Order: sequence, then C-alpha cells, then structure tokens
Amino acid sequence: MFSVSFSIKFKYNMLLQYQNKKPESEILATTKARLRTVSGKALKNKLIHGDNLPILKSLISDYNLAGKIDLIYIDPPFATNGHFKIGKDRANTISNSENDQIAYSDTLLGDSFLEFLRERLILLRQLMSDQGSIYLHIDYKIGHYVKLIMDEVFGIKNFKNDITRIKCNPKNFQRKAYGNTKDMILFYSKSENAVWNDPKIPFSEEDAERLFKKTDKNGRKYTTIPLHAPGETANGNTGREWHGVKPPKGRHWRSDPAILEKLDEQGLIEWSVSGVPRKKIFIDERDGKKMQDIWEFKDPQYPSYPTEKNINLLKFIVGASSNEDDLVLDCFCGSGTTLAAAQELNRNWIGIDKSEHAIKVAKKRLLAMPANLFSKVDFEFLKEITDTEERVDAYTTRTFVTVQNLYKQNYAKKNLSH
Ligand SMILES: C[S@@+](CC[C@H](N)C(=O)[O-])C[C@H]1O[C@@H](n2cnc3c(N)ncnc32)[C@H](O)[C@@H]1O
Repeated sequence: MFSVSFSIKFKYNMLLQYQNKKPESEILATTKARLRTVSGKALKNKLIHGDNLPILKSLISDYNLAGKIDLIYIDPPFATNGHFKIGKDRANTISNSENDQIAYSDTLLGDSFLEFLRERLILLRQLMSDQGSIYLHIDYKIGHYVKLIMDEVFGIKNFKNDITRIKCNPKNFQRKAYGNTKDMILFYSKSENAVWNDPKIPFSEEDAERLFKKTDKNGRKYTTIPLHAPGETANGNTGREWHGVKPPKGRHWRSDPAILEKLDEQGLIEWSVSGVPRKKIFIDERDGKKMQDIWEFKDPQYPSYPTEKNINLLKFIVGASSNEDDLVLDCFCGSGTTLAAAQELNRNWIGIDKSEHAIKVAKKRLLAMPANLFSKVDFEFLKEITDTEERVDAYTTRTFVTVQNLYKQNYAKKNLSH
C-alpha cells in the first residue's frame, strides 16, 4: 500500500513517486466549497468550519485571496492511525475513555496521507504572498517523506529550516529504541522576499559567563572582537595605518580610521599590551542571541483540545515571519492556537477545521480574548454547506423575494387607491 520511489527530475530536484499521485493541474482545478456566513459578515478574520481542500479553493476563487496570505502554520494529522478523543464533562483534558467523543480521526496512511497533504500544499502555495512563509508541523515518523513533498511544492531553494521541537519531558518508553521527545517543523518561504524579523532570545547566565568574560570598571560585562575583516583595500582609507598600526596582511579595517578614532575617544576600543586594538561589545547593548533550530516549547499539560500546541511556539513563529496587519492562515486550526497568537500580535487571521469540537473550542477561545481595551475579537464565522443546504438556502431566498415583491405590490396598490 505504501510504495514510494524516487526519481531525479532535473539536476537537484528529487521527486517522490507513489501510486495515485495526481497532476498539479487536476489539484488546481479542485471543486470549490460553498460557504455560508453564520455571523460577522465580511470581517477580515475568519473561522471556517469544513474540509480545508474545497475551502482553500474557494478562498482563491471567491474571496480573491490568491497571493495575499503572508504566513501559514499547519499542524495536520501525522498519519498515526489514531482517534483523538475529547471528554464530555472534562473539557480540559484529552480522554482515552471509550465513551468519549472523537474530536478528530487520523486514519489516512502512507501514500494516501502524502497525497492528502500535497493537494493542500499546492493550493496553499497559490494563496501565499511573495513575502510569505509556511511552517509545517509533523512528526519524526512521516516527516522525512513530507520534506520531499515540500521540496517539490515550494522548491528546495526556498527551504529554510528543519526545526527540532522538544515537545515533552523524557518518557520511559517500552520500545527497544531511544525515547522520543521531539517533533519537527519544516519552514519554507515563497520567495527570497519573505518577511524575517530575526528573532532573538535572551542570553542565559551561562551564555553571559561564556561569551562576555570581561567586566569594565562600571561593572558592565563585555567581550571584544577584531577591528579588521578579510580582504585588502588597495587605495581606500580602510587600508591605511591607524595609530601606527596597519591592518594585518590580507585584511582591512572594518571602519574608516576617522570612525575608529571616535570609538577610541569614547572608550569603546581596548588595546592589548602588544598594541593590538579590538572593539568592545557590551552584553547590555545586545537584544539577545540568534535563535537556533532546536526549540523547546512543550505542549500544555491540560489542553482544551487533543494535540493543542504551545501558544508561545505560535507567538514565536508569528513574530518571526510576519508583521502587524499581515494575514495569517491555519487550515488545520484545531483549538485555534495560531489564530489566538496572530490576534495577540495584531495580525489578521483565517482558521479552518472540519471538526465540530475544534470549531467549538476555537470559537470559545477567540471570543474570550480582548481585541483591545474596549472590545472583544471580531470575526466572520462561516460554514461549508452541502448541495441540499444550498438548495434550501436558494429556496428560502426565492420565497423571501416573492413575499417581499407581493408585499410591495399590495402596498403600491393601496397607496394608488388613496
Ligand atoms: C493536530 S490537530 C491541530 C491542533 C492545533 N494546532 C491546536 O493547537 O489546537 C489537526 C486538526 O486538523 C483537522 N483536520 C484534519 N483534516 C482536516 C481537513 N481535511 N480539513 C480541515 N481540518 C482538518 C482536525 O480536525 C484537527 O483539529
């Protein structure tokens, strides 16, 4: 059932092959969903209940959102062959009880799962803006196949990171293997112009001791870096002698000697006993250290929805790869963690989920959030409707219009007879 093979498409493009892989043109021609607004018509933020594939198509065709989404985070099912349940009277906990209701099922496996995901990724690519990014959360069992699909859809050149996310404390697994405490987040951009806010994390005490070993007379911790950089300057000032010192062979001063002079006057240059100048870098002037690709954001111990993700993980992603007023999309939104993070950081958002439980939890969560000091969060709530529901809708509209026209005619007749 799960048989895959690789082929080399062009020089660096490896293609994952499996049965029933559709041509892109067929996926792009997916039938769109019919959506009915239940409340909050035409607001920018949208929560949509239904299957995300036809809904993504309708965001493209009916809502004119192709090329408008700046950030996508998705946390789809992971092909675990499991049912995720939610307790009726214990809304705060994930339930394993037979009697509890299924929040969602994760039963698509192997190539069917990969194709399910690929179809959605192809439509998501259509929706992404030129400055857009996508983060896909997946586990270590299927994640490497998904990486190949992502490479195919978004292009290897747009691959940014395979982030290791520490998800829980170490557990005593029974399997004859190492314990598993991580999953992965695949990060791609649409183009070279993606928003990137270069997030920093604070230095730990250990970092401070290791990286900023020196302390000045005012008690400020600092380190020093060379004043020169690789490459010789043939005629410019940065190749000149300064304070009787020339940059070492094959190197040049990082700044014009006039600037170096000013830095020296301000006490920002340290001279070694042998007369070598270095620039002082103070820890209190740095906004932290660069975030690396191993992240620790453990999931909530008492989630309101199975597989609910850590809100700080989502706030970190939203802050890193979008700006205020940008549009953020999560089409497997579950309890609405991405939407809540986007809301908190003043981004607009769209969330889609096909589970009634998920929609209920997400709605409750979003409605409990303040939009600002004076009002609550506003969003349009839409629902995918079936053919029958559409026919009933059309019939109700026709009946309403007929009654309205009859009323108008009667009213006009009465007024004429006066
Ligand atoms: C892992 S959960 C997402 C959890 C979410 N990140 C959170 O923090 O709560 C995956 C979600 O995808 C939804 N889902 C699965 N297939 C879907 C589909 N075809 N269309 C829309 N939602 C779907 C499930 O109902 C489930 O809520």
